[in-house]
Amino acid sequence: IDDLATEGVAGKRVFVRADLNVPLEGTTITDDGRIRAVAPTIAKLSALGAKVIVASHLGRPKGAPDPAFSLAPAAERLGEILGKGVAFATDTVGESAASVVAGLADGEVAVLENLRFNAGETSKDDAERGAFADQLAELADLYVGDGFGAVHRKHASVFDLPKRLPHAAGDLIATEVGVLKKLTAEVRRPYVVVLGGAKVSDKLGVIDNLLKKADRILIGGGMAYTFLAAKGHEVGISLLQKDQIPVCLEYLAEAEKRGVEFVLPVDVLVSADFPDLKTKAPANPELVAADAIPADKEGLDIGPKTRELYAAKLADAGTVFWNGPMGVFEHPDYANGTKAVAQGLLDSDAFTVVGGGDSAAAVRLLGFDENVFGHISTGGGASLEYLEGKTLPGLAALED
Ligand code: 3PG
Repeated sequence: IDDLATEGVAGKRVFVRADLNVPLEGTTITDDGRIRAVAPTIAKLSALGAKVIVASHLGRPKGAPDPAFSLAPAAERLGEILGKGVAFATDTVGESAASVVAGLADGEVAVLENLRFNAGETSKDDAERGAFADQLAELADLYVGDGFGAVHRKHASVFDLPKRLPHAAGDLIATEVGVLKKLTAEVRRPYVVVLGGAKVSDKLGVIDNLLKKADRILIGGGMAYTFLAAKGHEVGISLLQKDQIPVCLEYLAEAEKRGVEFVLPVDVLVSADFPDLKTKAPANPELVAADAIPADKEGLDIGPKTRELYAAKLADAGTVFWNGPMGVFEHPDYANGTKAVAQGLLDSDAFTVVGGGDSAAAVRLLGFDENVFGHISTGGGASLEYLEGKTLPGLAALED
């Protein structure tokens, strides 16, 4: 982006592919971290006199307009953060977008409606995606990729559009890649990885890679129950991906072979019912040993012994990568596991990277001061795939 700035962007229409995919309750944004993270890039381009066109996806609409996934609340919040009016186009490549962009004065900012209201954005068909990218290209003179959270998606605005316009990486992508690169180089040890979240299948690639790199891997969240089942424990009605048990066993064996400590919960909070996240009514969880989950109960958070154990495993860490909450942190009765990990990170002197999505939101929603964490990534899947060593379409397109 600084190279573009040197060449001059004043008066140019600059398309910024951001990731404004923020969590919403109705039209209320519950965590605006991703908007705040990309705002400096937008502010910088605006200050340089560019006509800034911001585009993003939000959620997973089905390739057609759906008001539940409108970017209007995100556009409004962006305006508040920038401290200036932001125009909003009610479509992406239609009449509204054309007229809003045509009406931009130098330094002004517009947000387009959700890119995924167009089937071409996410299409697997190169021609269909390309045709949509052609339409997007007509709106702009230059492209800045700064939606780190979406760089692992081979989507029209991420992968095809930069091939059609002079392009550059924004400051957010530069920072994110700079930090993640450090984790792939020589790290300060012990290198402790904390993985949580619902599905073990989302984390297999990264576990495979981290087994070669990390000293300790601590497991929590829904994915822990497939590992517990792999060890022969009854997991009741907890989240379980039976088909992943063989690969979990492989990883447990590989960890042992490599001398990597692979740590599973020793106790968990269980209930017969999933808690009500809206009313947050008391859930009355029961505490059980991780190898004694009753048949009619599901595990919803790690228990106090596990919290203590994980805090101890984090205490002397030199480097920590954390992705995924330890339990249903959105409900106060099941937030303590995730809180304990966040606190463990704060208490250690480690270089810490919190990998995106839910864990980043958890850190903020649980009231931790995000500024004292080493780095909170805006990318969940993107940071995992980066650490897997995969080529990310949205980065490859910018390097090209
Ligand atoms: C994310 O939330 O990880 C990114 O915004 C990408 O969203 P997606 O998984 O729906 O592509």
